[in-house]
Amino acid sequence: MSTIEEELPMHLRGNWAPLQDERTITSLKVTGTIPTELDGRYLRNGANPITGFSDHPFLGDGMIHGIRLRDGQAEWYRNRYVQTPFIAQPDREVIDMEDSLTDMTSSKANTNIVGHAGQILALEEGHFPYVLDGDLDTVGPTDYSGKLTGSFTAHPKICPTTGEMVGFGYSLMEPYLTYLRVSAAGELVQVENITVGGPTMMHDFNMTENHVIFMDLPAIFDLELAIKGEMPIRWSDDYGARLGVMPRNGNDASVVWYDIDPCYVFHPMNAYEEDGNIVIDVARLSHIWRDGPMDFPEPALHRWTIDTASGRVTDDRIDDMPAEFPRVPDDRVGVKHRYGYMMANAAASAFEEPMSANGAILKYDLETGKRTSVEVGAGRLPGESSFVPKANATSEDDGYLMTYVFDANTDSSEFAIFDAGSMSNDPVATVELPRVPFGFHGNWVPSATAD
Ligand SMILES: [Fe+2]
Repeated sequence: MSTIEEELPMHLRGNWAPLQDERTITSLKVTGTIPTELDGRYLRNGANPITGFSDHPFLGDGMIHGIRLRDGQAEWYRNRYVQTPFIAQPDREVIDMEDSLTDMTSSKANTNIVGHAGQILALEEGHFPYVLDGDLDTVGPTDYSGKLTGSFTAHPKICPTTGEMVGFGYSLMEPYLTYLRVSAAGELVQVENITVGGPTMMHDFNMTENHVIFMDLPAIFDLELAIKGEMPIRWSDDYGARLGVMPRNGNDASVVWYDIDPCYVFHPMNAYEEDGNIVIDVARLSHIWRDGPMDFPEPALHRWTIDTASGRVTDDRIDDMPAEFPRVPDDRVGVKHRYGYMMANAAASAFEEPMSANGAILKYDLETGKRTSVEVGAGRLPGESSFVPKANATSEDDGYLMTYVFDANTDSSEFAIFDAGSMSNDPVATVELPRVPFGFHGNWVPSATAD
């Protein structure tokens, strides 16, 4: 390893190192059989700083890695930057109160990518969504015909029943929180300011059949850090922690708040209503950013149960195993799930050098309490996996798990499809790829959703 590499922070080394090129590969080696029912794109976003450097793993430029599947073929792999102002002007300030923190087009667009209402949206929580076309070229930022005036979360929830997409924006300045509801046709139909205790950093939220649940947690904006150009969020021991339950078409006056023990949750697995309770499964961390911008203790799966009659919230630790990036099938979002999928020991393994992890995709059966896994092998690590149901699925877990798997032994990657029902270590199919750096969130976008 060169001296220059040794001086780089962890998030730019090993398989966190950014790529320099955008590639299109149409001749791809496939092992196994890609199911012919899969017609769409697996897309994953992540931070890939165009200058080769970023101060923090969350601040690199958004790069999408995509695979197009159709008729049992892998038609192409592409990686493309989201064409934000930072790509045209790589020396633009990332944390700047006069510009990048207040200009809503000034996104890194690096966190998630979803399909909704015929559009592919690259998302980052501080700014407007960016629309991409089916070849991953950037169309541009969207403000929903002028109705969106602030930020849009990287973790909206799309209702499997109505097709509407609910989300929120948070801000460093008042109003600190805004609820956003986008119709199935892609129109922003509701914008509500919501009162929270201060400028909380709200990464994700929850949707059930009738409600949304905000997580008002003690990671808060710090102006002094922003002025210094540092990651402008820190832990607060005084702020408290609470969950806000609101009808999906409600407003600030209809939010009911429930206190919980201080903690942080980047990602819930899912939420649903049952017998007057609201159940939320989450990857819970004891705190974040107390001892600095890389202070991330190990997350683990917990279950919050909100008893709306008594006002009490119970917090049950479901498993001690460190795990993150929880997901349920898209058609279970907001309704009761039996199964959830996570990435084992994600943060710790990914930063090891040399990376010796035995990475795994975890499957939780929340009815029996049993955990099973797909083990991807020594020195190999999967990313977040997306569940895609089989064409004529007979059970909730009758489907495929898709992800990119990095292999430190060969410094290359593959796109892998596993059987979620059996959780066999042997993939249904793999597609050989050059190195795909670790990233954040991905989704399967069927051609029927956006093409
Ligand atoms: Fe996230």
